[in-house]
Amino acid sequence: MFLRLFFAALIALAMSLPHTANAQEEKCLGCHKGISPMIVSDWQHSVHSEVGTTCVSCHGSEHTTAKDTDKAGLVTPETCRTCHPDRVEEFSRGKHAFAWDSYRAMPTTHWQPMILREGLQGCSGCHKIGLKSEEEIQALRDQGSNYGAGSCDSCHTRHLFSKKEAQSPQACRTCHMGLDHPQWEMYESSKHGVRHQLKVTGALPENAAAPTCQACHMNEGDHAVMTGWGFLGVRLPMPDDEEWAADRTTLFKGFGVLSPEGEPTERLEVLKEVQALRVTEEAFQEQREKMVATCGQCHSESYARNELARGDEMIRISDALLAESIREVASLYKDGILEKPESYAYAYPDLLSFHDAPTEIETQLWLMFLKHRMRTFQGSFHMNPDYALWYGWSEMVRDRNAIAERAEELRRRARVMGAIETE
Ligand code: HEC
Ligand code: HEC
Ligand code: HEC
Ligand code: HEC
Ligand code: HEC
Ligand code: HEC
Ligand code: HEC
Ligand code: HEC
Repeated sequence: MFLRLFFAALIALAMSLPHTANAQEEKCLGCHKGISPMIVSDWQHSVHSEVGTTCVSCHGSEHTTAKDTDKAGLVTPETCRTCHPDRVEEFSRGKHAFAWDSYRAMPTTHWQPMILREGLQGCSGCHKIGLKSEEEIQALRDQGSNYGAGSCDSCHTRHLFSKKEAQSPQACRTCHMGLDHPQWEMYESSKHGVRHQLKVTGALPENAAAPTCQACHMNEGDHAVMTGWGFLGVRLPMPDDEEWAADRTTLFKGFGVLSPEGEPTERLEVLKEVQALRVTEEAFQEQREKMVATCGQCHSESYARNELARGDEMIRISDALLAESIREVASLYKDGILEKPESYAYAYPDLLSFHDAPTEIETQLWLMFLKHRMRTFQGSFHMNPDYALWYGWSEMVRDRNAIAERAEELRRRARVMGAIETE
């Protein structure tokens, strides 16, 4: 830290020495005070302005007039690396770094309207946190996007680049909310989140124990975020429990990473590449032990282990329900009652087709997976009993029943149609 401050002071000194650089900065500021006054004032309030990191440090000095704005340097994590190599290194190892690749790797992404894919409106509006290649950044530029290259500004937004902002749970809120990952909603109304709010409003003492998202997921400021189960709540190796192993196999088929016959597919390689699942016991345990140690700052170790084991158990029971419904729909394809959708690789439910699942029963199966199963285990891991039970488990049971009833109806209709045709 001190070493870094020392270097920063040196850089600041170096930058203030040659008269040209200083004059350049004054030019940027002078003109941009008129064009984008709040960018300038945010920067003025930032630590960067105190340590002499200026517009020029990040954007270079090639653009100097209103006519050559395309020469303004693009800021990417590589720009930050010059002064914050450790943070960029950590970030690159964590899940956030994969966000751009992972959403683009999804087969269904190509079916979304262009603006929702690449216009930084839908998927890409959140997944922009991921690292991009130079070509990808250029492509964004060519589409007319003036941002999306920064990644680091997802939590400490420009141009304050504040540590305090990034330490607040609100920094995660915009992305970690909603249909398939309502971590914000779950956390906010959990005892952990409520305590944090009461601390902020002053009802609880300033040093009261109240974990933030960051306390649990970026302990000691570690930018390499990663969890044991991951988003999909599946991992390898298979569990010893035979029923659970069979259910997880069914889920893998539903994700299309195993073929209906149980053979690994190309998609498995894609998911492995973006580290969507931990593929060894060691990789899982490494994350689990980190989490136990974090809970251990406020709870006893056995309390923490037991609570996390309950989350694992929630995954087991939700897998059983989901697998039952996947098999139900799969049997409709097998018996020729439901036609294989053109876009599906196999005559098997494709859970990753999201809202593009063509029929009502396939859509309900998708919601059961992406909305309700997620809530069941995510709610448990985030100490939110209401999400785990009512928004999660209870909805899954209703999905299972509705899917079974609808399947029966389709079979009945097929029998009647068959009878009419043979007449
Ligand atoms: C003569 C006025 C002027 C000066 C001097 C100036 N800028 Fe700009 N800058 C502009 C204008 C005008 C825009 C375009 C605003 C818009 O798109 O509405 C702009 C845009 C930018 C952009 C955004 C580019 C993009 O593609 O969206 C950055 C970054 C930027 N300036 C940084 C700087 C830096 C760094 C300096 C100093 C080296 C500087 N500016 C000096 C007028 C100026
Ligand atoms: C020319 C060097 C330089 C560049 C480039 C630079 N920084 Fe910094 N930054 C510093 C220095 C020096 C500090 C103060 C010491 C510290 O906190 O590390 C700092 C502090 C920070 C802080 C802490 C602010 C606070 O509230 O305490 C954040 C966050 C930050 N930088 C993010 C970034 C990001 C993101 C980028 C790239 C977009 C970036 N920096 C680019 C030099 C730089
Ligand atoms: C700009 C959107 C955005 C913001 C802000 C954001 N995240 Fe994320 N986060 C994502 C995306 C997208 C992923 C999935 C990455 C992938 O595709 O591999 C993710 C993944 C994660 C994961 C890994 C889950 C797993 O699969 O193991 C954790 C943990 C996480 N984020 C925590 C946080 C925390 C804590 C904050 C706030 C300090 C935060 N995120 C802020 C978008 C964001
Ligand atoms: C610590 C690095 C850093 C510094 C210092 C910095 N910027 Fe930026 N700036 C960024 C990042 C990151 C982006 C977003 C890039 C992206 O996502 O593609 C950005 C984007 C911009 C944009 C275009 C986006 C918008 O909101 O209009 C303008 C204009 C801009 N900066 C002007 C300035 C000016 C003027 C200064 C000096 C007062 C300055 N910047 C200082 C990092 C920096
Ligand atoms: C998911 C949110 C998130 C993202 C994305 C993020 N940071 Fe941070 N950053 C934080 C948090 C939280 C802290 C405070 C850490 C602590 O408590 O010490 C922090 C602190 C910092 C600091 C303050 C000084 C220090 O070293 O502790 C710097 C510098 C920094 N980040 C740079 C970066 C850079 C560079 C990137 C992009 C590679 C980045 N951050 C991306 C959340 C984030
Ligand atoms: C008290 C600690 C704690 C807090 C606070 C916390 N989490 Fe988590 N989080 C966990 C645990 C435990 C898991 C599951 C770890 C595993 O997979 O074994 C988890 C999992 C996740 C995941 C992966 C998917 C999932 O939900 O299982 C993401 C993403 C995530 N958390 C983001 C957040 C965000 C964003 C916040 C704040 C709004 C937050 N968490 C608050 C402990 C916490
Ligand atoms: C509101 C922000 C947001 C939007 C919009 C969004 N995502 Fe995500 N996505 C996230 C977050 C946050 C995670 C991590 C959640 C977790 O781990 O619980 C994630 C996780 C993922 C993952 C899992 C990555 C992995 O390796 O585990 C994929 C794949 C994905 N999203 C694809 C998409 C696609 C495709 C779209 C558009 C159809 C999309 N996302 C829209 C925020 C978003
Ligand atoms: C920064 C301190 C801190 C950390 C870290 C922390 N907790 Fe807590 N936790 C608390 C406090 C304080 C309470 C409220 C105590 C109470 O309910 O009497 C609490 C409550 C709980 C509760 C009970 C919720 C309720 O409604 O009564 C559970 C379960 C729990 N924590 C589990 C965990 C797990 C698991 C972890 C790690 C993933 C963890 N906690 C991390 C401080 C923490």
